[in-house]
Amino acid sequence: MMQLSKVLTSVLLASSLSAVSAAAQQADIGAQLYTDYCSACHGAAGLGDGDMADVVNIPSPNLTLLARNNDGVFPMLEVLQIIDGRTGVRAHGGAMPVWGRVFSDQIGDSAGPYGGVLEVRGRLLSLATYIQSIQQ
Ligand code: HEC
Repeated sequence: MMQLSKVLTSVLLASSLSAVSAAAQQADIGAQLYTDYCSACHGAAGLGDGDMADVVNIPSPNLTLLARNNDGVFPMLEVLQIIDGRTGVRAHGGAMPVWGRVFSDQIGDSAGPYGGVLEVRGRLLSLATYIQSIQQ
């Protein structure tokens, strides 16, 4: 009995640890995607001061204040939908590229019909998780 609870405890511990590192891993992947696709406008640290920020006619927002501007709660779903851009949560035709479509076109059906969908969602989630991690 003693033995079993020990085993269970270590299994639970291991799985909660891997949940933590899964989130950390997601933020790491998101950081890389952010550097590649977002920093040009939103800036290396998300402050809205990228080199391209002056090129587009609408200022690139500071992405580190999203929680602060939302009563301290990071608006995860809204951020996901804004980055995706295909969900129509905001009127588009704006300066912000429609990343859901960009990623989807990039990946194509190389991973099968569902593989592409999952990969796009994974990238969006990694980006949103990363942005959540840089909130002030
Ligand atoms: C070409 C410049 C440009 C690039 C590149 C860009 N953005 Fe944006 N982004 C904008 C502009 C301009 C806005 C504000 C207007 C709008 O929402 O269309 C914005 C808005 C946002 C918002 C909403 C912020 C708020 O205050 O509500 C989020 C979140 C965001 N971008 C994330 C990203 C992510 C993640 C990437 C990379 C995958 C990215 N952006 C790449 C220009 C850019």
